[in-house]
Amino acid sequence: MLLKFLKLEYNIFSWEIYKIHSMNEIINNTNKLIDPFGRTVDYLRVSVTDRCDFRCTYCMAEDMQFLPKKDILSLEELEDICRVFMRLGTRKIRLTGGEPLVRKGIMQVINNLGKEVGNSLDELTITTNGSQLETKAEELFNAGVRRINVSLDHLDPDKFREITRWGDLEKVKRGLKKAQEVGLKIKINTVAISNFNQYHLPEILAWCGEENFDMTIIEIMPMGDIGGDTRYGQYLPLSEVRKDLQKKFTLTDLPERTSGPARYVSVKETKNKLGFITPLTHNFCESCNRVRLTCTGVLYMCLGQDDNADLKTVLRNNGLNALEDAIKKAIERKPKGHDFEISRQSPNISVNRHMSLTGG
Ligand code: 5AD
Ligand code: SF4
Repeated sequence: MLLKFLKLEYNIFSWEIYKIHSMNEIINNTNKLIDPFGRTVDYLRVSVTDRCDFRCTYCMAEDMQFLPKKDILSLEELEDICRVFMRLGTRKIRLTGGEPLVRKGIMQVINNLGKEVGNSLDELTITTNGSQLETKAEELFNAGVRRINVSLDHLDPDKFREITRWGDLEKVKRGLKKAQEVGLKIKINTVAISNFNQYHLPEILAWCGEENFDMTIIEIMPMGDIGGDTRYGQYLPLSEVRKDLQKKFTLTDLPERTSGPARYVSVKETKNKLGFITPLTHNFCESCNRVRLTCTGVLYMCLGQDDNADLKTVLRNNGLNALEDAIKKAIERKPKGHDFEISRQSPNISVNRHMSLTGG
């Protein structure tokens, strides 16, 4: 108890000192993160855990070895890093995983950060597999979350179980219903997988229309070891997907960009929006506004490059001021772009870490 009190006191004290340190820059508005290519970095994606209650075949091996607890940022550290980013101009935070909602205590962090929405933050959002939504949706909404992304790759319960290895489609659907009831806006993320959901994508799009969900189709990315499967077999270029969808739907390009890898179209027949995330066949890097923090506290300045900054060690050893400096230095090294490749010649993995570690 005393230890907990002392820790809290120490934390408040560190924050007071840090605030004095960064106040001048905030007043002079020189505390924004701008990379060497002039891109303002104001979007942080945080993987809060590498664990997941699913084992999607393109994401993890069935016997995936998760990281030991000591390597993972504590909830306090996680929040501290988010808050320093917010003081450096971050306006949007997305919590991802693994499955963010399986991390014990994460709702407290969401509640705390949610209080900043409308002040230091424009948006707090999550990417989830939907397995916990039935019980968590209401609390998410009450915390200030307004939009969520839910991963769903098939609408047939057996196929859903096949791709997730363990997932229960009906439970996810109940979660989606609850999320909608409480007022969360939903976007469905579907990874395009050759010969698996390739011919089922029009059905998912039509369903999204009926349910009033937006949809994003994602091209497989070569991240981390996935056991026996080869990604060459799973890879399906979205140019092909778009051609197929156009046989059934009228797609009109939208000018809207999100400074991210998605290009959007409107769908006349379903009246919803459809995004294509094509990191492999399209270059989206020139307007990139984001960086990614792993659950181990390592900052990746680009999803497709290995250069990184170990923020956890800096925070643990040197405190908040040093953390701020380390973030600024890391942004100075944000690369111009990535060079993912999937082909018969190239290896299965072009970045040796899983999406669940870095966050999608
Ligand atoms: N390639 C493409 N998408 C992936 N996801 C997870 N791993 C990969 C991968 N290797 C997706 C999930 C989720 C989003 C965060 O990223 O399905 O929708
Ligand atoms: Fe879990 Fe998402 Fe990976 Fe599937 S893709 S195993 S839901 S982290």
